[in-house]
Amino acid sequence: MGIKVIGTGSYLPPKIITNDDIARSLDTTDEWIFSHTGIHSRHMAGEGETSATMGAKAARLAMEAAGVTNEEIGLIVVATSTPDYNPFPSTACIVQDLLGCTNAGAFDLQAACAGFIYALEQARGFVNFYPDKKAIVIGTEALTRVVDWSDRSSCILFGDGAGAVVLANDELPGAASLKTRAHTLLGADGKGAHFIARSGGCKDSLTINPSTGVPEKAGPILPEMTLQGHDVFAFAVRTLAKVASELCEKLGTRPEELDRVFAHQANARIIEATARRMKLPLEKFWLNLQTTANTSAASIPISLDQAVRAGKLVEGMRIVMVGFGAGLTYGGTYCTWPNL
Ligand code: UT7
Repeated sequence: MGIKVIGTGSYLPPKIITNDDIARSLDTTDEWIFSHTGIHSRHMAGEGETSATMGAKAARLAMEAAGVTNEEIGLIVVATSTPDYNPFPSTACIVQDLLGCTNAGAFDLQAACAGFIYALEQARGFVNFYPDKKAIVIGTEALTRVVDWSDRSSCILFGDGAGAVVLANDELPGAASLKTRAHTLLGADGKGAHFIARSGGCKDSLTINPSTGVPEKAGPILPEMTLQGHDVFAFAVRTLAKVASELCEKLGTRPEELDRVFAHQANARIIEATARRMKLPLEKFWLNLQTTANTSAASIPISLDQAVRAGKLVEGMRIVMVGFGAGLTYGGTYCTWPNL
């Protein structure tokens, strides 16, 4: 009974870029990258692949696992920092068309690497109030298209891919608010907005040509991501353990009672530090960034799907999903899988 994840799916593009590949053009080594991040390789979206096409593939697999039809889907939420367009039409609308979910509303949500947690909460609210409809939540990224491939301290960190879940509700509208089930904590700290950024938005004003009085815009901008790694690292280590522990405390659970933690896959050292702070064995933390690297909003749903398909995330497990990212944003959800 209640709001549930009824299917998961994920997609990683077949093209793989190893650390050794990167070391052929930058002053770095597989040894440095692996020892500082836990990453050996990452997937890269190929020609014709976009956040929308990868998201649609992950969503289709999640729909198949859930056994739902296109018509049953009432909402598609796409968390992404690498939309197909800049920023409209939304990637969610392209996904909706690719999936043929003609009854679904669709929108993108931007909360960077914490985007999946934010999007899950939006969709949870939707199926709570419209229990006859199902929702798809997708995290999808084509980050290799926006990293600065000449910056060895940031380009090594990111990869492409998508993950998705389907949510359904089989209880009366509003009933979820009466019970304690999943619990979510969302937060932001805009003071760190400049720690991870990609410019090229509408922040800069146009200049007026003095002779014609007509606004002029600068040439086409193809901005790359900038990253203050140290600051983000410190924020992540502080935040992940705090959010996960606060969630446990609110629900009267001790962290050691958790079966698994699905933390955003940014850096293995961040996850190790979180495990130490929470006094949990590292084995409780899902780790896949050795081969996926940081896929931002896609990292948690990819991890969930891999764990489900490997039989490592099964009904009744108490889990915390927790993420952080540009903004700065952070968020976590505690649930007894697959109930939300
Ligand atoms: O989803 C959120 C996204 N962001 C993140 O997750 C970023 C979190 N931050 C990190 O993961 C780490 O800060 C990095 C992996 C980015 C960097 O690791 P670090 O241990 O903080 O290295 P550092 O920036 O302090 O750099 C140490 C040295 C520097 O050399 P000097 O100045 O000491 O001579 C860097 O130039 O390591 C150098 N360095 C590298 N050397 C070889 C930086 N990147 C590389 C590299 N290969 N790829």
